[in-house]
Amino acid sequence: GKGGYAHFMLKEIHEQPNAIRNTILPRIQDGLPNLEECGITPEVLREFRHIQVVACGTAMHAGTVGKYVIEKLARVPVTVDIASEFRYREPLVGEGDLVIIISQSGETADSLAALRLAKSLGAKTLAIVNAMGSSIAREADMLIYTHAGPEIAVASTKAYMVQIAVMYLFAFELALAVGNIDETECRRLVKLLQETPEVITGILEHKEQTQYIASSLITADSLLYIGRGLDYALSMEGSLKLKEISYIHSESYAAGELKHGTISLITENMPVIAVATQKALREKTISNIKEVKARGARVILVCRESDNVDPDAVDLKFGLPEFDDLLMPMIAVVPLQLIAYYTSVLKGNDVDKPRNLAKSVTVE
Ligand code: F6R
Repeated sequence: GKGGYAHFMLKEIHEQPNAIRNTILPRIQDGLPNLEECGITPEVLREFRHIQVVACGTAMHAGTVGKYVIEKLARVPVTVDIASEFRYREPLVGEGDLVIIISQSGETADSLAALRLAKSLGAKTLAIVNAMGSSIAREADMLIYTHAGPEIAVASTKAYMVQIAVMYLFAFELALAVGNIDETECRRLVKLLQETPEVITGILEHKEQTQYIASSLITADSLLYIGRGLDYALSMEGSLKLKEISYIHSESYAAGELKHGTISLITENMPVIAVATQKALREKTISNIKEVKARGARVILVCRESDNVDPDAVDLKFGLPEFDDLLMPMIAVVPLQLIAYYTSVLKGNDVDKPRNLAKSVTVE
């Protein structure tokens, strides 16, 4: 059942802190990541020259967060691909490459086909899967189960959360294995990852602001999500979540790309949800916010509570607690999920079963 929640989606959003604990704690030993049980050792990790992530939808967005984190910490190049594109592109993967397939269901037809193709080309494959015993879990060379438990709502929330938690653990272990970070830094990062459930619980206790933001979106025909770096990766997920359950058209854009075409879409009162949690990119994103504001946009900014915002540039703010930049996506995705959820509720939509969508896409 829904455990007292109005929808499975809301229940699953609330299950995220425990889903993270269940997923990461068995893979941490003496304060360091240990993925040996999954077939992953430092020796294995040092073999890879390139990592290719392949997935669909929300799982692909989790892979995109992983790309930023792996490249930053381990300095190993990562490419991310949509499974339905990867498999028909005569992909350039083979020996020396690691192909990571991310899938909640473990049965997505294109992702499974991509896995088989990668194996046939001689690449090593790692599956990050939630459903036990699923096809992708059975066929991959290495396997990390996410322990989100069954996800019923079509819109994925807790499965995404644990997919990114695993990407972090994997990135930490890889970065340590290749010698790009030392043990002290690795322990610091693992400790931060272990702190995320509590921080998320804190956000879930104050949902009013997300309800308020949602109420300001329901009349919109279209909106944009913008961000840079990890905030851009997160914007993609925020935008998909909103469009799939609220039926409001939305796109995510790298904030710096707006002026290359998309900014012409901005009209009076069009909502723009900007995510700015990465300190090094903050001023750049703020200047993009001012550009859309000057063209009439209604700006909703997701940033730290402690960030001072110019009231002339921002209409509504969602304030996040202070947390490390690198791990901020795990925290910042929560208000984006809640904004999508409440917008759908307020529009009277079938939140858990949005039109035209199936939970598991087993046909291509
Ligand atoms: C969106 C959503 C989908 C899935 C995609 C892949 O909320 O759930 O985009 O992420 O269909 O599904 P899995 O992870 O089962 O391969």
